[in-house]
Amino acid sequence: MTDKGIKLAHFSDLHLSGRKDRKGLARLDALLSALSDSGCSHIIITGDLYNSSNPEDWASIRELLQHKGLYSWEKVTILPGNHDLIDLEEEMRFYNALNPDNGSRARRLRRKLNRFCTDFREIITGDESVAGFPYVKTLDYGDISLALVMVNTVFPWHNIDNPLGARGQAGKAQLEALYDPSVKKALQNSFVIGVMHHAYRIYETGVFLDQAFDWTMELKNRKDHLAAMQQLGARLLLHGHFHRFQAYSAGGIKVINGGSFSLNHRRYSEMIIKADGTCEQRFVNVGGGDS
Ligand SMILES: [Fe+2]
Ligand SMILES: [Fe+2]
Repeated sequence: MTDKGIKLAHFSDLHLSGRKDRKGLARLDALLSALSDSGCSHIIITGDLYNSSNPEDWASIRELLQHKGLYSWEKVTILPGNHDLIDLEEEMRFYNALNPDNGSRARRLRRKLNRFCTDFREIITGDESVAGFPYVKTLDYGDISLALVMVNTVFPWHNIDNPLGARGQAGKAQLEALYDPSVKKALQNSFVIGVMHHAYRIYETGVFLDQAFDWTMELKNRKDHLAAMQQLGARLLLHGHFHRFQAYSAGGIKVINGGSFSLNHRRYSEMIIKADGTCEQRFVNVGGGDS
C-alpha cells in the first residue's frame, strides 16, 4: 500500500440545515461513497456541520457514517465549527448582549463542546476515555505514521470582541498542552498534520468592504497556533470556516482550506502522503475536473 502512499480526504463546512436536511445528507452520502471508492484511508471534516447548533441534529451525521461503515477512530476525524457550538440568535438576544457575565457564555460553549465530544466520542478517543481538546491521533500504516493534532478554535460569542461568533481563538491551555515535551516526542517519527476549524488566511481580496470585516472571522492568535504547530514539526495544516477551496503556506507549512461542502458538495482536498515524507495535494471534483 505504502509505495503509492496513504490517501487522505478533507472537506469542510457542510452547513446542513438540520437532521431532516435530506438533500444535504444524500449529497454527503454520495461524497462519502466516492471517497471510499477512491481508496481513501482517512476522512477529515473541519467543522460547521450544521447551521442549527442543535445537538439533537448531530446524530444524523453519526448515523450516516455508521451506515457507511466509516464511524470509527481510524477512518474519520470531525471537528466542531462555530455554527455547531454557538447559537447566535440566542447569544444576540437583547438581555444577553447587555449581560456582562461573560462566564455564562464560556460555560455554555464549554457545555456544547463537551456534548460534541461525548456524541462523537468513538471517533475522538477510539475507546472509553473522556474526549476533549486538544487531542492527537496517531495512525499507523506500516512504514508511514500520521499524526493529526486537533485544536478547538471556537471561542465564546461576545458583543464587542466576537459579535458574529465567527472569530476564532486557539485556547491558551490547549496550546500549552501541545508544548509538553511528551507530545513532541510521541510525534517525532510521524507526518504531523494540524487540524482546526478557523482559517489562517481570510479574504485578502483587496476589496475594502471585505477587509473591513476581516477581523470578525479571523483566528485571533493564529501566530501562537502556528508556532505550536511549527515546534511539533507539522507539515500540513487543514482548516475550513472561510468558504473557499485554497492551498497556501504559512510559516513554511502548507495550509489547506477545505472550502465549503455547502457551496460545492462534489469537491474535496485529496492528500497523498508517501513513506519518503513527501505529500501531494490537489482538489478533486467527484465525477471529474481535478485541480
Ligand atoms: Fe462555515
Ligand atoms: Fe465557521
